[in-house]
Amino acid sequence: MIKKGIILAGGKGTRMSPLTKAVNKQLLPIYDKPLIYYPLSILMLAKIRNILIIVNKGELHQYKKLLGDGKNLGIKISYKEQEKPNGLPEAFILGENFIGKDNVALILGDNFFYGQSLTKILLKCVKLKKGSKIILHKVINPEKFGVAKIKNNKILTIKEKPKKHISDLAITGLYFFDNKVISLSKKLKPSKRNELEITDLLKKYLQYKQLKAEYIGRGGAWLDTGSIDDFYKTSNFVSAIENRQGFKIACIEEISLQNKWIKRKEIINSIKFYGNCEYSKYLKKLITK
Ligand code: TTP
Repeated sequence: MIKKGIILAGGKGTRMSPLTKAVNKQLLPIYDKPLIYYPLSILMLAKIRNILIIVNKGELHQYKKLLGDGKNLGIKISYKEQEKPNGLPEAFILGENFIGKDNVALILGDNFFYGQSLTKILLKCVKLKKGSKIILHKVINPEKFGVAKIKNNKILTIKEKPKKHISDLAITGLYFFDNKVISLSKKLKPSKRNELEITDLLKKYLQYKQLKAEYIGRGGAWLDTGSIDDFYKTSNFVSAIENRQGFKIACIEEISLQNKWIKRKEIINSIKFYGNCEYSKYLKKLITK
């Protein structure tokens, strides 16, 4: 079982400037909560309780102010600073001590996942013992993503932002790796844009026939939140669902409560922490039912 997860919550957020000049992208709102709540909730739904958040140098205090050490969520959160955005595989180099001898999940801090079958897929993925697993989702603009070409349920090739169409299955920002990921990441060479590339890392696993895929079907959603437009579209999506059903998406305290990691006392602490707001009202309802 994979019990450790990393959230990459650094990055320049260039496409969202000037919003990201003083505030990191993952702290900006997707409707009623900071973006980082969404990837964090995904790891928690995968029953991962030991989480490393990688942030930009100088931004640690903001994240700590929001999420602390995770105790109130019944999880353990640790942090590590990244000097500059040197690429996604750097997560495994910076996270070497955190990972230790275990396998690990990685989620990008700006990825949004939603759907009924999601928890089932996640619980399947954390069973990974050897190799690596990626999550694929059909998109209409594959040229903007890393994509995987599949035949007979096997991955044939993967390519970063292909100019010529090879597949419309995008590789989402959620990955599961065995412990070899540390040594393989250390061997990677920076690309032309001077970053370590996740595609190069995945290609190594593919070479050893150890790259597998899971799919989020059409009943699920994977939304990118890289641009300002994406932010508003995702916010609208969350708002539409929350206001229709009355359930919140990515309420991290609710997930902890459901996982039986916390009790009423911690929820009351959270209500005090958030103060008088809609989010607190929702938390209050969870313990007065
Ligand atoms: P990107 O979308 O590559 O970069 P970005 O979010 O900084 O945005 P922009 O392209 O507009 O400058 O990053 C994807 C996610 O991964 C995002 O949440 C930031 C994070 N990230 C890191 O934390 N460290 C890194 O070295 C890289 C490359 C990304």
